[in-house]
Amino acid sequence: MRDSAREHGPGPTNYDGELRSHDRILRREAAVQRHDHVLDIGCGSGQTTRQAARTAREGRAFGVDVSATAIERARELALAEGVGNVAFEHADAQVHRFPPERFDVAISRFGTMFFDDPVAAFANIGRGLRPAGRLVMMVWQPAERNEWDVAIRRALSGARPTGAAAPAGPDAFSLGDPGTAERILGAAGFAGIAFTDVHEPVHYGPDVDAALDWVRGFTSTSEVLSRLDPAASERALGRLRETFSAHLDDDGVRFDSRAWIISARRL
Ligand SMILES: C[S@@+](CC[C@H](N)C(=O)[O-])C[C@H]1O[C@@H](n2cnc3c(N)ncnc32)[C@H](O)[C@@H]1O
Repeated sequence: MRDSAREHGPGPTNYDGELRSHDRILRREAAVQRHDHVLDIGCGSGQTTRQAARTAREGRAFGVDVSATAIERARELALAEGVGNVAFEHADAQVHRFPPERFDVAISRFGTMFFDDPVAAFANIGRGLRPAGRLVMMVWQPAERNEWDVAIRRALSGARPTGAAAPAGPDAFSLGDPGTAERILGAAGFAGIAFTDVHEPVHYGPDVDAALDWVRGFTSTSEVLSRLDPAASERALGRLRETFSAHLDDDGVRFDSRAWIISARRL
């Protein structure tokens, strides 16, 4: 997972910037309506929550995140941007007691892949949705379909990755397999499960230095680097630099990526 304090900070790259090409697609698929009550799961610094609130101008948007830093930042940004029909809570979406049948739609931008018990977590989220309420979430497709992950792992290890790495901790790709995601959501009480392919680049910064700074902050990157001795770590950083140089164009450092928007209805 990304470090919440960095990802919501003002540096040359942040998460909203990284995902700027994904944003309009999630908005289109979420199709928030004027009167909707919207739940944003794992909302981070709340860009998607604020956007939902602006569209649901006679409804409200509610963002939850397990990161207190992210929620603090989300509240600051909503205040600074004058978005009034929005609220944020520091909460674990897996177990938080949402008001029953409150929300018309639950959205998420890469905030639903890290649950310990995904069936229980989605069932809990479902209890907060009204009957036939919608779930619309963006998740990564499998690691091997994501050039950014393959390239970073290759640069860090100095070798071609041999497939999806066995994740030691939270797995950003846990909902990437449609069969798995469908089984989880079906068991959690959702139907009409559909997948939309999202094929857009991720943006790591305007230049190689910014990209290196951003990607060094990924937990997966810093964990690998911390296990290397200083010389090996320098070599790995050199390979990352070369990789980013090869992906630099007029739009900055970009990598191909594949995500799903998974949509479903609560039974
Ligand atoms: C990759 S970030 C995405 C943040 C945000 N959706 C965005 O697009 O800016 C994933 C977020 O999910 C949050 N998260 C992970 N597990 C969570 C849980 N069980 N309940 C609530 N938030 C969670 C993390 O703290 C993190 O902010």
